[in-house]
Amino acid sequence: MNRRKKIYEGKAKIIFDGPDPGSLVQYFKDDATAFNSEKHSIIEGKGVLNNMISEHVMNGLSNVGIPNHFIKRINMREQLVQSCEIIPLEVVVRNFAAGSVANRLDLSEGDPFARPIMECYLKSDKLGDPLLTDEHIAVLELATAYEMEEIHYIAFRVNDFLSGLMYAVGITLIDFKIEIGRVYKSEFPTLVVADEISPDTCRLWDSNSGRKLDKDVFRHDLGSLIDAYSEVAKRLGVLPNANLKRSGKPKLVH
Ligand code: TMP
Repeated sequence: MNRRKKIYEGKAKIIFDGPDPGSLVQYFKDDATAFNSEKHSIIEGKGVLNNMISEHVMNGLSNVGIPNHFIKRINMREQLVQSCEIIPLEVVVRNFAAGSVANRLDLSEGDPFARPIMECYLKSDKLGDPLLTDEHIAVLELATAYEMEEIHYIAFRVNDFLSGLMYAVGITLIDFKIEIGRVYKSEFPTLVVADEISPDTCRLWDSNSGRKLDKDVFRHDLGSLIDAYSEVAKRLGVLPNANLKRSGKPKLVH
C-alpha cells in the first residue's frame, strides 16, 4: 500500500510528502543513469550507500554552518528533508579538470585549475543540461544577482568543507555538483543546499592510486560501482551493515 503521496520522481530519487507541513521524504533508488539517461542500470545497494554518505556530508555542512535541507535519516533508503523550491541550476565546482570541461576545452583529466571554478548548467533533461552564463541566468530570471552571489559563496564553502572531509580519508575531490533551494520563512527566501551530495554527484579519486570512486566507474565501465561507493562509505565511517551485493554484473534495464 502506498503510504505517502509521491510529489516527484527523478532519475535516482523519489520525493514524497513528509509527515509535517514543510517536510518531504527523499527516497534513494538503486537506479544509475549517465549521459542523460542513455545508459541506465539498477545497481543493488547504491541507494542505501548514497543515503548514508549524503546524510554524513549534510550533517557535516550543518556542523560548519552551511544551511542545507537535511533533517534526519528515517531508514536505510529514506531521509526527512525540508521542503524548498529548487532553483533549476546544476551548480558545479571544479578543482581539477575532468568530465565535460576537459572535453569542451581539450584539457587533460586531472590537471589542476589555478583556483576552483564554479559553473552553472540548466537543469533540463530535454536540453541535456546546457552550460549557462550569468547573463543567461539573469535574463531567463532563473536566479537574482543577489542569489547568484549567495550561491557562489555557498558553493565555495561546500568545496572547502568537502575537499577537507575527503582529503582526511585519502580522497581527492576533483569536482562536484550541488542543487540549491529557496526556503520561504519570511518575505525573503533563504537559500539551502538541497538534493544529495554523494559519489553520484562528485568526482572522487583515491589520492594515492588515482582510482575512481564515483559515478565515472559506471559511466565508463571501470568496474564495480558498489565496491567504489562502499570504499567511500567505509573511509567516512558510514558503511551500512546491509547485505550489499558487492560483485556481479548490474542488471541492465535498457
Ligand atoms: P561534468 O563534468 O559531466 O559536467 O560533471 C561535473 C560534476 O557534476 C561531476 O562531479 C558529476 C556531477 N554531475 C551530476 O551530479 N549530475 C549530472 O547530471 C552531471 C552531468 C554531472
